[in-house]
Amino acid sequence: MSDDQSTGNHDAIEAFASENRRFPPSDAFKVDALITGTELYDEAARDDEGFWARQASELIHWDTEWDTVLDWQLPYAKWFEGGMLNVAYNCLDRHVLAGRGDKIAIHWEGEPGDTRTITYQDLLDEVCRFSNVLKDLGVQKGDRINIYLPMIPEAVVAMLACARIGAVHSVVFGGFSSQSLSDRINDAEAKVLITADGGYRRGEVFPLKPAADEACETTPSIEHVVVVKRGGNDVMMVEARDHWYHELMEDVSPDCPAQPMEAEHLLFLLYTSGTTGRPKGIMHTTGGYLTHTTFTHKYVFDLQPDTDVYWCTADVGWITGHSYIVYGPLSNGCTQVMYEGVPNHPNNDRFWEIVEKYGVTIFYTAPTAIRTFMKWGAEEAAKHDLSSLRVLGTVGEPINPEAWMWYNEHIGGGQCPIVDTWWQTETGGIMISPIPGATTTKPGSATFPLPGVSAELIDDDAQPVPVGGGYLTLTRPWPGMLRGIWGDPDRFQETYWSRFPGRYFAGDGAKLDDDGYLWLLGRVDDVMNVSGHRISTTEVESALVSHPSVAEAAVVGANDATTGQAVFAYVILRGGAETDEAELRAHVTGEIGAIARPKRVFITPDLPKTRSGKIMRRLLRDVAEGRNIGDTTTLADASIVDELQAKASESNDG
Ligand code: PRX
Repeated sequence: MSDDQSTGNHDAIEAFASENRRFPPSDAFKVDALITGTELYDEAARDDEGFWARQASELIHWDTEWDTVLDWQLPYAKWFEGGMLNVAYNCLDRHVLAGRGDKIAIHWEGEPGDTRTITYQDLLDEVCRFSNVLKDLGVQKGDRINIYLPMIPEAVVAMLACARIGAVHSVVFGGFSSQSLSDRINDAEAKVLITADGGYRRGEVFPLKPAADEACETTPSIEHVVVVKRGGNDVMMVEARDHWYHELMEDVSPDCPAQPMEAEHLLFLLYTSGTTGRPKGIMHTTGGYLTHTTFTHKYVFDLQPDTDVYWCTADVGWITGHSYIVYGPLSNGCTQVMYEGVPNHPNNDRFWEIVEKYGVTIFYTAPTAIRTFMKWGAEEAAKHDLSSLRVLGTVGEPINPEAWMWYNEHIGGGQCPIVDTWWQTETGGIMISPIPGATTTKPGSATFPLPGVSAELIDDDAQPVPVGGGYLTLTRPWPGMLRGIWGDPDRFQETYWSRFPGRYFAGDGAKLDDDGYLWLLGRVDDVMNVSGHRISTTEVESALVSHPSVAEAAVVGANDATTGQAVFAYVILRGGAETDEAELRAHVTGEIGAIARPKRVFITPDLPKTRSGKIMRRLLRDVAEGRNIGDTTTLADASIVDELQAKASESNDG
């Protein structure tokens, strides 16, 4: 492929599909919307530092004003230096002091159906107590604390208690193995581990404490283990090391004034996987991160703090849970729902039952969940009154237009703006997204960078791409950006700042359409190269899912002697639907062109996914290329890989 600037064709990624449906904000929505015009964009375009400084001073309580807004020594940014603040104070105390102590912070719903209603005053009391517990265990400012908990309120309490006393939390998703937990504890040299006996998942108790015990066999830095009682399962308690949370909380003082922290004080580490096997401890700090998450949570979801009931379905073990369950929503003082379990317990309509029960107004979930709901059928949502909903969000992967349309129609009743939010663990908060009262959306496009965010699409030679496919880079620092990789400055430089000097490279491909809309096309390592044409796996998946019989599709590029790579597709059909390989191949040809026609389409009952719900394309590529499958320990259900392999070898034999 030639790189033709004049026609806007670039060979970073070729984008073949086009999507012309548009959804402007409705007049009814605009009446009360926070933002309906371009004023924030204009302000930030004139002076991004001034813009973020105004947000920081309007949205956050500072004990001491900062001296400098931004100190930018590429790749290291310092925001609001000289400023002092406490994140827990911002999330709790200031709301209580303003007379909102009785406001519900969290409607918590356990998977078995038990509930807890937690006000801001309740949460403040619990956080103060637990802060004192941590101090009594010898925890000091800067110490690392590991958190390995189910989706229970104590996870929020533990994170905020760390923030209150300046300890650094490192939350590890409860679905990770003991080995992963131990690796993360050791990398951070954590002093205390906070876990639970177990939690509920799919109607059963999944034990956490045994995995924590196993991890602690190889973690010399751990001095204490605090255990929350949730599952009621039998656990072993190690004398002197292990303590029950409820016992420690019994006679501790509820008085723990929040200590102001430096704006650049390390707030948390969160481990994320990179291209190598070793996870990276992404570092996030205090003032900039809180400004970024508070601002984005308010404007991206058009938050009306007095009336909204917000629900983000992520787990606190991921960045979405950190930024949009804990820090953004609580800093904004809103009421939210927190749910412990899976969407299909006891039935496939559990989420919609919860939306109806609590009158959820803002709902934030992942495309993979939406496609699962599609598979279960619209009748599940139709069993419930979802008319309280007014804003819908998605995060985590590109959303294909058909899933977007389904979400819009069957969950939003055609009335709710959808915000497709692009960001990463590393960015700390949302970067590219519509603003619901201001942005005309197109199904499948994350639309535009938010005010104060400078994103630019470039080609292999780092030249800006005005229209067409390219690499998504960020050209200016932003307040929530990662401050480094824990203990590995070289890897920080190498991973994010070396491919395109002077720019942060996110690892994602995207395209800009004629109207300047951004379309995320997946990680660039998910890009296929077929006969010299680069095709996004996402686009082929979208095409497949637009077939009426298809619920979900995963596409990989597998090595092919003739074409370099060939497109291999794995497809789950909607309940009761019928089609065959030939029809689906023809369908993709019709949607995108012969260039994207899959060489093979396998119809399968399930797809291999990580426990966070991401399709494991690497495994599918291995299957497509007939390789033996290596490590499947992070898979939600490893048996599906065996089934796929059997299918692939059957068809090769035939
Ligand atoms: O590829 C992008 C995809 O998820 C990656 C970041 O993953 P993680 O750090 O786990 O954070 C997920 C939650 C923020 C990105 O590099 N991604 C995230 N959101 C979107 C997305 N891809 C397309 N559209 C999105 N809205």
